[in-house]
Amino acid sequence: MTHTMKHPVTVTVTGAAGQIGYASLFRIAAGEMLGADTPVRLRLLEIPAGLKAAEGTAMELADCAFPLVESIDVTDDPNTGFEGANLALLIGSRPRTKGMERADLLEANGGIFSVQGRAINDRAADDIKVAVVGNPANTNALIAASHAPDVPLERFTALTRLDHHRAVAQLALATGSPVDQIEGVAIWGNHSASQYPDLFHATVAGRSAVDLLTQQGLGQDWLENTFISKVANRGAEVISVRGGSSVASAAHAALMHVHDWVLGTGESWTSMAVPSDGSYGVAEGIISSFPVRCTGGVYEIIHGLEHSDFSQKRIAASVAELVEEKQAVASLGLLGPR
Ligand code: NAD
Ligand code: LMR
Repeated sequence: MTHTMKHPVTVTVTGAAGQIGYASLFRIAAGEMLGADTPVRLRLLEIPAGLKAAEGTAMELADCAFPLVESIDVTDDPNTGFEGANLALLIGSRPRTKGMERADLLEANGGIFSVQGRAINDRAADDIKVAVVGNPANTNALIAASHAPDVPLERFTALTRLDHHRAVAQLALATGSPVDQIEGVAIWGNHSASQYPDLFHATVAGRSAVDLLTQQGLGQDWLENTFISKVANRGAEVISVRGGSSVASAAHAALMHVHDWVLGTGESWTSMAVPSDGSYGVAEGIISSFPVRCTGGVYEIIHGLEHSDFSQKRIAASVAELVEEKQAVASLGLLGPR
């Protein structure tokens, strides 16, 4: 390695033996998350039942001889797994199957995130950044944050980047334009069927997406019954068609979430579920998706966007669901001291 390399980053991946873990680790090791100038120390955290498979994954990672990989450790102890971690991808948890809503997983998965939140609080590096992928992602992130009172709240985020990509892809399809011409799409609320994928600030090659769609005869009916419904229910559609929940697209979204958080979005936006600052009427005390811009390792919610009544109602409905999920996990005793 040359002297231009950055300091190594310790990345903890939970659920390392699972499907998304397997689809993420090799790309992280190849530098696709943090760049070709950043060595990584990989920590693979599993439960005892997944340990052997995680060790097999570590063997394959070693066999790739990735120049950026400084070390690979496998453990089933959260304290060891998060020791000195700079980045944590919390993937490990059960996926839903056909006919379930993501919230049906709260009871099964919630306990994982209280234990891991505490371990992050006690063991992670001071600059730890957390991205929760395991469902229901927003509320799991809230559980983890509530058990980590010494870590700044804004370091706990959840993934709505997959929804963001889905929205960009559907808009590209509807307008017949390349995805790289699309800017200003936003996902609001929960990573669930209640989410609000918002096109009202989006542009296609610099032109208003809504004007372009209207010209093509795609109005409010298309927006509500085709676009929003397609994006919001895409996870369930993949489960029904593929026979299992999204894997490679989820791994890609997780990598891009962290990539942009750490390395920046430039002037454009992305969507991340982050602790609400109360803007847009989103209750404080929940982790909700907003459009964000990232610079210097810090995300900032985009403020000052105007919303129609329709948009306001859609955001409020998803926020109401997040408030209910928070109440549900509080009554299950899953929330911590923060
Ligand atoms: P999977 O069943 O293939 O893998 C999950 C892995 O997590 C297993 O290896 C399991 O042993 C491990 N695990 C369970 N509890 C753990 C713990 N306490 N600590 C460490 N590891 C633990 O599932 P998958 O397909 O990889 O999906 C993982 C999660 O990601 C699911 O909850 C799924 O719903 C969610 N997901 C989220 C998004 C998103 O956009 N937010 C997208 C797709 C999937
Ligand atoms: C997705 O959006 O694909 C994931 O959250 C998996 C799921 O349960 O829908």
